Amino acid sequence: MTIIIRSFESRADVLFAESLTQKENWRSETIQEINILFEYDPSGCLIAEKDNQPVGICIATAYKNNGSIGELIVSPSARRSGIGHQLMSIAIQYLQNKGIRQIYLDAVLKAVPLYEGFGFEKITRSLRFFGQVPAISSPDVFPITLNELPAILEIDQNVFGENRSFFLKKRIQNYPHLNYYLKNNQGIQSYLFGRQGRGGWITVGPWINLQTAEIGLSLLHHFQYQIGNQPFSMGVLATNQSAVQIIVVNGLMPQPDPPIRMALNTQENLGSSYQNYAIGSPAKG
Ligand SMILES: CC(C)(COP(=O)(O)OP(=O)(O)OC[C@H]1O[C@@H](n2cnc3c(N)ncnc32)[C@H](O)[C@@H]1OP(=O)(O)O)[C@@H](O)C(=O)NCCC(=O)NCCS
Repeated sequence: MTIIIRSFESRADVLFAESLTQKENWRSETIQEINILFEYDPSGCLIAEKDNQPVGICIATAYKNNGSIGELIVSPSARRSGIGHQLMSIAIQYLQNKGIRQIYLDAVLKAVPLYEGFGFEKITRSLRFFGQVPAISSPDVFPITLNELPAILEIDQNVFGENRSFFLKKRIQNYPHLNYYLKNNQGIQSYLFGRQGRGGWITVGPWINLQTAEIGLSLLHHFQYQIGNQPFSMGVLATNQSAVQIIVVNGLMPQPDPPIRMALNTQENLGSSYQNYAIGSPAKG
């Protein structure tokens, strides 16, 4: 058996990656989302081939000082022979060769030992919520367009801790009806970006809230008003108690067996600010 790990080269690799996420029923990981990761950095998108057939994927996202690893999947028939381990090892090496030491991921419980073997440590639960909140329109909420993006990116860099302009710009281009900000006489107070998954599945995040939870909540209520009678999902780190509390009180339901946010070599945690209400995505932090 020969295993080769290489970077994605073509659309065929993106399609293969999408087929694996579909088989796992990862509803927010669409062809569009994988394509964005491919466009951002093709070298970080890894594919494993066994006897010349693709059998696994893993995507490393490099920011300046921090990196994320996500989308680790091996085809069921090729599991338990070390391919997942090899993909992880190359992904970590790839980020480390860029000088990145702090690496994050969201681990399903069964995969925790695999990541611990590489030195990743558990930080907190990366909770998942699903449902609807009251739909209430607000006169202070507006759609995010490319005009507001520079102001939002400045806030985002401070709160999230890295420059994710590439990904946020894509959200505006791909899902213009799913991105909103709340502005009062003191300026922008809260913003959220959404994305569309398979079968009408909507995911919210990042959601950043600079002031009180109530202000952020008006934005979320307005978002629900805009998308109509549709449920949505959201990922929130358990360390942000304020975010967890308001979304539960407002009707979102915690999903069973949430992943665990893990990190390698880190003291300060990317995205752990109390103003960071919802994560952007497991693969991108
Ligand atoms: C996780 C996964 C990529 C591992 O791939 P693999 O090629 O089987 O991995 P390896 O053979 O290199 O190592 C197996 C290790 O993976 C972990 N693992 C085993 N079964 C697993 C499962 N069903 N789900 C997640 N992790 C599992 C264990 O730590 C195992 O170590 P062990 O064999 O010593 O107990 C593969 O099980 C998979 O694709 N699962 C579904 C998608 C998924 O859950 N991805 C991880 C998201 S965080």
